[in-house]
Amino acid sequence: MKAEFAIFNADNLFQIKKIKSHSVNLILTDPPYNISKYSTGNIKFSYRTEINNDIAEWDKDFDPSNYKDEFIRILKPKGNILAFTSYNTIGRWHEVFDPIFDTFQFFIWHKTNPTPKFMKKGFLNSCEIIVCMWNKNHTWNFSHQDSMHNFYESPICSPPERLIKPKHPTQKPVELLKHLIKIASNEKDIVFDPFMGVGSIGVAALELDRKFIGIELDNEYFKASKRRFDRLGLD
Ligand SMILES: C[S@@+](CC[C@H](N)C(=O)[O-])C[C@H]1O[C@@H](n2cnc3c(N)ncnc32)[C@H](O)[C@@H]1O
Repeated sequence: MKAEFAIFNADNLFQIKKIKSHSVNLILTDPPYNISKYSTGNIKFSYRTEINNDIAEWDKDFDPSNYKDEFIRILKPKGNILAFTSYNTIGRWHEVFDPIFDTFQFFIWHKTNPTPKFMKKGFLNSCEIIVCMWNKNHTWNFSHQDSMHNFYESPICSPPERLIKPKHPTQKPVELLKHLIKIASNEKDIVFDPFMGVGSIGVAALELDRKFIGIELDNEYFKASKRRFDRLGLD
């Protein structure tokens, strides 16, 4: 088996226009969360390295409505859209996409090892939301009632899966992504991620014998994705 992928170091709003209409089976993506504006800065310690609380410079200005027309144009009629989001943007996803799709659901990833709350105020941020959208007759590999809860539990990824250079603040675990890809697409299908980061969705898709299209703006993250795909050793 040969890994089939096409990846671009570009702004996705420009590059997505080059994707053929109704050609993508699954859009699975992890866009900016728009939460860095709420951050009070990194957390500093005398006894350990500081904790990234700022997310990243790119974590701003994401509005699902800017992607609506292109997502609908490139998606096949039986395709699914699954997107990571956060408490402050889920309403916007619903407002923009619920009128278009028959179904709008959410899925929760519970992290078993989230960043501790050092000041012991509030809840640990141990859950991430994934919004899921589709129309009737969509591709959906329903296995067993017990395996199809809208909930998945796993640790955040750590080395060796977690890259050290470049370190991406929101690298997602491949096993979680595989769980979603297996349900929402079939072998040989095309999976698309316009916010590729260091390529975790691509790794999951290619290891499951899907084809992959990815776009990432940052050149270091883009090169790291390419290295990961080239190393997959599929033959
Ligand atoms: C939440 S991260 C994705 C992390 C990814 N799931 C992983 O596991 O590596 C979002 C990514 O989107 C990229 N990004 C932000 N705006 C973009 C744009 N307009 N076009 C392409 N990539 C963009 C950022 O550089 C960042 O790496």
